[in-house]
Amino acid sequence: MANRKLIAGNWKMNGELSALAELDAIGAAVDDYPEVDIAVAPPFTLIAAAALRSPDLIIGGQDCHANVAGAHTGCVSATMLKESGARFAIVGHSERRADHHESDADVRAKANAAIAGGLTAIVCVGESEDQRDAGDAVAVVEAQVEGSVPADVDPAMLVVAYEPIWAVGTGRTPSVAEVGEMHAAIRARLVATFGEAGQGVRILYGGSVKPSNAATLLHIPDVDGALVGGASLKAADFVPIIAAAA
Ligand code: G3H
Repeated sequence: MANRKLIAGNWKMNGELSALAELDAIGAAVDDYPEVDIAVAPPFTLIAAAALRSPDLIIGGQDCHANVAGAHTGCVSATMLKESGARFAIVGHSERRADHHESDADVRAKANAAIAGGLTAIVCVGESEDQRDAGDAVAVVEAQVEGSVPADVDPAMLVVAYEPIWAVGTGRTPSVAEVGEMHAAIRARLVATFGEAGQGVRILYGGSVKPSNAATLLHIPDVDGALVGGASLKAADFVPIIAAAA
């Protein structure tokens, strides 16, 4: 049976208070497309306001620390996110792996912390352009899944997002065959880890998803939704992507 689709927007370091107005139009899609789960990860500073303003949307964080509390200046814990109204945390985004030197082990620890704190963990994986060109993409991503996705958690609290680094913010996407091959490989690893329950772990595609390519990407087998960056900032772009998932 196909998994329920999840369309998640990652606002990255974009959005001031005025951006919350976009949530009203995005929130209206909850009624229009009840068969789709709709999520938005605004900056930390907007989570509480977003959760209050748009209770029908699934609001989440873009990261969380591996610890519950302590001397970690500038960091936010899963408990803090949950208390602010977040229901999920993205961990291991390629921008954090690159900018903050996060390893697979770091990402796994964050995913564990998110789940222990009552959040769904969206664990991001994806190869670089050099790795794809070298023919290593599937092996690289399999190793990331192995290293980053916790094996001893409730799989219902997990989502995996495949985001080829070279497709993030570039306007380029892999071919249908490449996405299908990668999602099938990730699915196989999840089933190896969780048994039949691995079939229910949603696998999102991310990287230059936009209204014009969403339907194609979202109908590839084992693509259970999308993690959307730039096109999630405006309801006029994001809502057609949600519609394509319905
Ligand atoms: O988290 C979202 C991804 O990095 C995709 O970003 O849709 O702007 O390419 P993008």
